[in-house]
Amino acid sequence: MKVLYINACVRKNSRTNELAQYALSKFKDEIEEINLNAEKILPLDDERLFLRDNLIQNKNYNHPIFDYAKQFSKADLILIAAPYWDLSFPAILKTYFENIAVSGITFYYSEKGYPVSLCKAKKLIYITTSGGPIVSDEYGFGYVKALAKNFYGITDISYVKAEGLDIWGANIPEILEKTKQQISKI
Ligand SMILES: Cc1cc2nc3c(=O)[nH]c(=O)nc-3n(C[C@H](O)[C@H](O)[C@H](O)COP(=O)(O)O)c2cc1C
Repeated sequence: MKVLYINACVRKNSRTNELAQYALSKFKDEIEEINLNAEKILPLDDERLFLRDNLIQNKNYNHPIFDYAKQFSKADLILIAAPYWDLSFPAILKTYFENIAVSGITFYYSEKGYPVSLCKAKKLIYITTSGGPIVSDEYGFGYVKALAKNFYGITDISYVKAEGLDIWGANIPEILEKTKQQISKI
């Protein structure tokens, strides 16, 4: 089994990454990590979109612009770690999602216009931490869940969150420890 760890953590001493590393330590499988900030994934501007559309139209999928999509489509399990930023997650993760949404690699549209998955993965784990309380799951985890389900056919989706880490006086080690116990049960 191949686990793809999509690391959208930004800070060097990221607590979200610490939880993800704990989760990864439980796997005995092949683990591939993609560190989104280190990769410096480019957004789809006019030039890149034009290039991509032309390649897709000609069914020429050999260009490196498709590498992320290919990697995602081949993974058996997806683990995403992303801190809770502005009710959601860091923009680099959205940029990544835009890069992997490639018709002909990760999905295709049915005759009725619905996306049909071309991905192997059936399970996704989403890990996040927040400074205060997570006031809504809708725009972070909820968005990822909807995308994974509707485009990539991933139905088994787990959500791990450690909240209130920046609240003055918070017992951070205790919160993280409790979250690790939760991870062990997945
Ligand atoms: C740009 C930015 C936006 C943030 N937005 C929120 C937020 O909307 N709600 C919240 O509770 N915490 C917010 N935080 C705090 C982080 O969620 C919190 O510090 C988190 O634990 C960071 O994870 P890390 O240790 O993995 O970097 C934000 C932090 C940053 C830097």
